[in-house]
Amino acid sequence: MTNIAIRPLTPSDFHQIYDIAKRSWLFTYKHIFNEKFITDFVEQHYSPDALQKHLEWVQRNGGWSTVVETDDNKIIGFCFIGPFKEALWRLWRIYLDPDYIGQGIGTQVLKAGEDFLKRSKIFQYVVFVHPKNQIAIEFYKRRGFTPISPNQQEEIYGIPPAEEKGFIKELKY
Ligand SMILES: CC(C)(COP(=O)(O)OP(=O)(O)OC[C@H]1O[C@@H](n2cnc3c(N)ncnc32)[C@H](O)[C@@H]1OP(=O)(O)O)[C@@H](O)C(=O)NCCC(=O)NCCS
Repeated sequence: MTNIAIRPLTPSDFHQIYDIAKRSWLFTYKHIFNEKFITDFVEQHYSPDALQKHLEWVQRNGGWSTVVETDDNKIIGFCFIGPFKEALWRLWRIYLDPDYIGQGIGTQVLKAGEDFLKRSKIFQYVVFVHPKNQIAIEFYKRRGFTPISPNQQEEIYGIPPAEEKGFIKELKY
């Protein structure tokens, strides 16, 4: 079992986050998108500039932007939870290094994120997943998320269910 620490993202982590994002995206979406699409997407959303803008957004709007680190200071994942619509928050991103998937680490990260949400008096949050990302869909279902109905999803959140599958979780206090 890998011991982990979860701590706030800082600019000195940007290069390692980019590497993890690339590896995790290629692992997760290799049967869904072509390699060029994935590497372009990662370049656009996880470059140091993009991550700096993300941190500035978190400073303005609030949020829980963290990295997952092993005992020997190796970064093996990251998670961003932040505001979405009014009082509703969203799990924007959770990506682990593929070598560390399926060891209970995602569950620990989610629990830490939910502790933050509870301290912030947030009562529910949502996540949107690619419909073919079975590992993540199974993970969210097993961790207490329930599916948002396709009509409600399109109407309320403006996200077509064919593109992403929405899940919501009520937090118990
Ligand atoms: C989704 C993710 C964060 C979950 O973290 P994790 O550490 O792998 O998950 P855990 O080990 O804590 O829990 C895994 C749960 O999902 C289930 N699961 C189903 N299929 C699985 C698979 N192929 N691999 C791992 N877990 C699987 C397990 O059964 C387990 O539930 P259980 O403990 O009740 O049996 C991680 O797998 C990941 O980074 N995946 C790639 C990136 C991704 O898809 N991110 C989400 C985008 S929306």
